[in-house]
Amino acid sequence: MSNTAAPVIEIRDLHKSYGALEVLKGVDMVAPRGHVVSLIGSSGSGKSTLLRCANLLEDSQQGEIKFEGEPIEWRGTGLARRPANRAQVTRIRTNLSMVFQQFNLWAHMTILQNVMEAPVTVLKRDKHEVEAKAREYLAKVGIGDKCAAYPAMLSGGQQQRAAIARALCMEPRALLFDEPTSALDPEREQEVVKVIKSLAEEGRTMLLVTHDMRLAHDVSDHVVFLHQGRIEEEGAPAAVFGAPQTQRLQQFLNAGQSK
Ligand SMILES: Nc1ncnc2c1ncn2[C@@H]1O[C@H](COP(=O)(O)OP(=O)(O)OP(=O)(O)O)[C@@H](O)[C@H]1O
Ligand SMILES: [Mg+2]
Repeated sequence: MSNTAAPVIEIRDLHKSYGALEVLKGVDMVAPRGHVVSLIGSSGSGKSTLLRCANLLEDSQQGEIKFEGEPIEWRGTGLARRPANRAQVTRIRTNLSMVFQQFNLWAHMTILQNVMEAPVTVLKRDKHEVEAKAREYLAKVGIGDKCAAYPAMLSGGQQQRAAIARALCMEPRALLFDEPTSALDPEREQEVVKVIKSLAEEGRTMLLVTHDMRLAHDVSDHVVFLHQGRIEEEGAPAAVFGAPQTQRLQQFLNAGQSK
């Protein structure tokens, strides 16, 4: 059913409202396999909403979402529109692992258990195989020595790296990051940036919402600037950051530099 030549995620003319508030006003976004697409824009522009719609965590009222070429099936229209096929939603969502600003690790489980939990309980994978994978991913993000520790014993940067290992252990088709470094102090932030850069270099498909323009510049194949629920400008990072065309993007980038 999946078409590996098709983009992992393809969104066309997406509209999303919360009641009377229209948050996404016709957005197109494509994440081809192996590409990193970054979403930038000021607070409230709709970045998290777009990411959550892509992951089917939020309903949308109009437009098309495709996963590896397969269109999401809808029933109803407008505010009553919902995915029609629960099994489809579950399957697609387990293939798109999300990493949030707040890492949401389970406090009562060790780091290893946290990373193993979803592959074992949701995907019903073999426990021993998952454990071997989990240890591998924890080593990859640089905290292979923290398997037996509980989340409270880790720094913020280590917890976020554990959350990334947890996302990787699902072996998803794409990783979706929502401001993965913004809860961290600058030093811890760099530990996580390093991991994200290494994942980009491996050719993983990623959607990245970030306030870190250097990170967006360094890792992205494509950068999307959202403004009030619309794509105001997009392109290769060299163009978006080096020669912004619209006044709004120029203002946004200048404001960031004066912080
Ligand atoms: N659950 C919700 N119910 C109602 N309105 C919401 C909800 N979630 C977000 N919004 C509104 O939608 C708009 C876009 O929010 P969103 O969280 O997508 O912005 P963002 O670009 O991620 O901002 P930030 O950079 O602050 O995270 C905002 O006006 C916000 O208040
Ligand atoms: Mg947000």
